[in-house]
This record gives sequence, structure tokens and C-alpha cells, in this order.
Amino acid sequence: MFRRLLSAFSWRVLSIPIFLKILGIGFLTAILFGAVTLLQTRASTSHILYQLLEQRTLSMGRALADTIERSASIGNFYEVERYLQDAKDTFPEIRYAIVRDERNRIVASTFGGRVPPDLMKTSSKPCPPECSARILGSSEGLIIDVNFPVVGGYAGTIQLGVLDRMVSRELALLTRTVLWGLILCTAVGICLAILLTGILTRPIHHLVQTANKVREGAFETRARVFSNDEIGRLAVAFNQMGEALMRYRREVQAKEKARLSLIERTVQVQEDERKSISRELHDHFGQSLLALLLQVQSGCKYSPAKCAYVHTPGSLCHCAENTIRQIIGDVHRLAWGMRPSILDDYGLDSALARHIEEITKTAGLDIDYQFISPEGLERLPSRIEVPLFRIAQEAITNMIRHAKATHASVVILRQLHEITMLVEDDGQGFEMSMVQEKGNQCLGLIGMKERVTLLGGSFVIESAPGEGTTIRVRIPLSEEHDGDTNFDS
Ligand SMILES: Nc1ncnc2c1ncn2[C@@H]1O[C@H](COP(=O)(O)OP(=O)(O)OP(=O)(O)O)[C@@H](O)[C@H]1O
Ligand SMILES: [Mg+2]
Repeated sequence: MFRRLLSAFSWRVLSIPIFLKILGIGFLTAILFGAVTLLQTRASTSHILYQLLEQRTLSMGRALADTIERSASIGNFYEVERYLQDAKDTFPEIRYAIVRDERNRIVASTFGGRVPPDLMKTSSKPCPPECSARILGSSEGLIIDVNFPVVGGYAGTIQLGVLDRMVSRELALLTRTVLWGLILCTAVGICLAILLTGILTRPIHHLVQTANKVREGAFETRARVFSNDEIGRLAVAFNQMGEALMRYRREVQAKEKARLSLIERTVQVQEDERKSISRELHDHFGQSLLALLLQVQSGCKYSPAKCAYVHTPGSLCHCAENTIRQIIGDVHRLAWGMRPSILDDYGLDSALARHIEEITKTAGLDIDYQFISPEGLERLPSRIEVPLFRIAQEAITNMIRHAKATHASVVILRQLHEITMLVEDDGQGFEMSMVQEKGNQCLGLIGMKERVTLLGGSFVIESAPGEGTTIRVRIPLSEEHDGDTNFDS
């Protein structure tokens, strides 16, 4: 659980755009550096400034003790108070000055007789011998408090309190200066981050665009190599991969071309053979059988007996006549199946209509047939008619052998630049994955597809168990295909 959360978190952090990463790192470093610098400088500066303030307070106290020495000795406390007030006016950081007599009674002060109770009793020892200052807290800030003897203590003591305003001011100034410096550094850092990000991400963006083009099939696209750093080397490796892909594609294309021309040649040879066998059967063998039939018929003319189950000399002649008729029928069917002459003589429409009519009679399957074509169009070239006829033949054979359909249809739609053939049945259908599993065993479907590929068309089968089968063939009828293949011998 914790690991999953950690990996989800790190994935999110790593998915932040590079620009924000660099900016964030720069910003954090600047803040950290600025904060540490500020704290350290403040600490050492405030230490030095407080020492200086203490020394200044001590020297001011000493000077003030010397100034009031005479007036205090003769008990002119009015003048003492004036001196104190003058000193406070001259040095505004002096918060208070209190003069006590030798019996520790307050005799003069800058408070004009209303000395706060906290200051009534003094605890710091008068200097010398030890000159140390006390630090008192107040609502106005810290106060450095010193106590000096006047005339060696014979004329009392003077207590001086100096506010740390100067130190606070200096520290505030220092903080402001460092903060401005920090803001300036951060601004420069952001500019540098933008620049660095641009330098880093530009080749990456370019590489991504190139990769997208290669993915779409433009293998000749090359990435621009901006530098010799890691990203530059990645671009070089990417370009080498592009070269390898180009080579591989050329090899595949050459192999595919060879394969297609081999298939084309095989199909053509097969069609030529079928045609010649069909002609041979029809013209030669069929005619010979017909001649034989005529001869037998003339021999049987005077034999009244009919062909019967138990042969008699007279009936044998009629039985031979029947057998010859049967053989003539078989030969015709065989010749037709090999290559229907009607296909060559009258075209695809008539040949398919006749084929479907025969099938409907023998297989008992109801097949609707339609050939839709605009008026006045010329016949299709035989290089298109023959493969379409073979595809329809195989699709209809499959329907009869596998579909267990009750109704089927064959529709051909001829347009100016395309011909579409749709063969549909409402039979049991099949799992498309089964055809992939069987692979080379499905020669009928493979053959249909190959014939369509040779004509640069598309071949789609839609089928599912219990939902019938639809075969859709589309063949372009552009000029450039004319004369590619010729099934006429
Ligand atoms: N119309 C259809 N209805 C149901 N199943 C079909 C249909 N057409 C094809 N099939 C299934 O697809 C398989 C492959 O068909 P294909 O024509 O390639 O081979 P085949 O008919 O089994 O053998 P052949 O190589 O003699 O044609 C068939 O075995 C059958 O299971
Ligand atoms: Mg088949």
C-alpha cells in the first residue's frame, strides 16, 4: 500500500514538465540560500551591533557622569536634570537617565519626577570596577542599561538606558537588502530556468514531432541534431533507427512485390489452364461424345427394346445411349465449372446469374442476386470480371458447405470508379479468431483476399457465431489498373 502510494507520488512528481522541474529546483535553491544567508548575516550583524551599542552606551554614560559631576557635587540637581534632558534631545536613542545621590535616592531624571517603579531600584553594579550593561525589555524594544558612579560614587550614580532602535533599524535595513537581493536572484534564476528549459526541451520537442511522423509512416523524416550532448546522441541514435526502418521497409516491399507477382502469375496460369481444359472438354471431348451419341442413336434406331434393369441385346444399345448423354452432361458441367464460357462471352452479370440459378436448383438454397450498374457502361475488363466471379463462386460454395443458411444474397454495385460486391447469408457464422488460428488451412478465404489485393481493393469479412456472414469486396476501377493482369489467354 505504502509502496503503491510512493510510486504514484513519484510518478506524479516525475511527470511534472521539465520547465517546472528546473524552475522549482532553481526557486527552492534561491529561497534556501537566501534564508540561510539572511539568518546567518542577521545573527552575526546583530551580535556586532549590540556589542557596539553596549560600548556606545557605556561611553555615553561615562561622558554624562563627567558632565554632571560638578553640578551633582554641589547639589544643583536642577542643572543636572537640564544636562540629562539635553543629552536625551541630542541622542534620541537615550530612553532615560536617572541620577541618584550617595544614599540611592533619585534626585534627577529625564522622567521629570515620575520614574516608573521598575526603574526605581537599580540592580546593575556601577562601573567601574565591572562595566557590564543590563538588557531590559520594553514595549519600545530592548534597552541597554548602564550605571556609572559620579565622582567615584561620592556624588551618587547615574543610570542610563539606551534603546536598541538603531540596531533594529540596521537589522531591518539588512533584511530588506538581502530580500531584494533574493528577489533579484530569483528573477534572474527564473529567466535562466526559462532559457535552460528552452535549450533542453527544444531538441526533445523536435524529437517527439519526428517520432510522431515516423509513427505515421514517414520513415524518411530525420531528427535535427542540435548538439553533441546526451539529447544530441539520442537524436543520432533515432536517425540511425529511421535508416534501419527504411531499409527494413524496402526489403519488406520488395518481398511483398515478389510475392504478389508470383501469386498473380500463378493465378493467371491457373486461369489459362482452366480455360484451355474447359475448351478442350467442350470443343473436343464434348464434340467427340456428341458424334458417338449420334452414331449410337443411329445404331439403336431399329431396336425397339428400351433400356431396362436386366439387359437384353436390344436394350443395351439404348442404355449406352443414356450413358453417353449422361457423360455429355457431366462434361458440360465440368467444362462450365472450369471456366464458364458465358463469362467470357456475356460477362460477369450473366455468368453469376446462371451460376446462382444452378446452385439454387441443386443446393436448394434461396439466393437473391442483383447486379446494379448505371446505364451505358462498357463491360468490365476480364482481369476484374474473372477474379470477382471466382470470389463469388468461393463465397457461395462456403455458404452451401458451412453456413446452414436459409437465405442468402449476392449484390454487385458497379459505380464509375469502384465496384462493390456484397455476399451475405443468415447462417451460423463463425468466430473470426478461428480463421486466424487455422491460418493457411483457410485457402478459400486466403485466395479471395489475395485476388482482391492483386487488384488493389479491400476485402472485409464480418461474421459471428449465430449472426451470419457478410463478405464485402471493393475494387477500384481506375485507369492505372487497366492491363495489370490479363486472365485472357
Ligand atoms: N459463409 C460461411 N458461414 C459459416 N462459416 C464459414 C463461411 N465461410 C467460411 N466459413 C468458415 O471459415 C472456414 C474457412 O473457409 P475457407 O473457404 O477458407 O476454407 P474451407 O471452405 O474450409 O476449405 P477450402 O479451402 O476448400 O475452401 C470454413 O472452414 C468455415 O468454418
Ligand atoms: Mg471454402
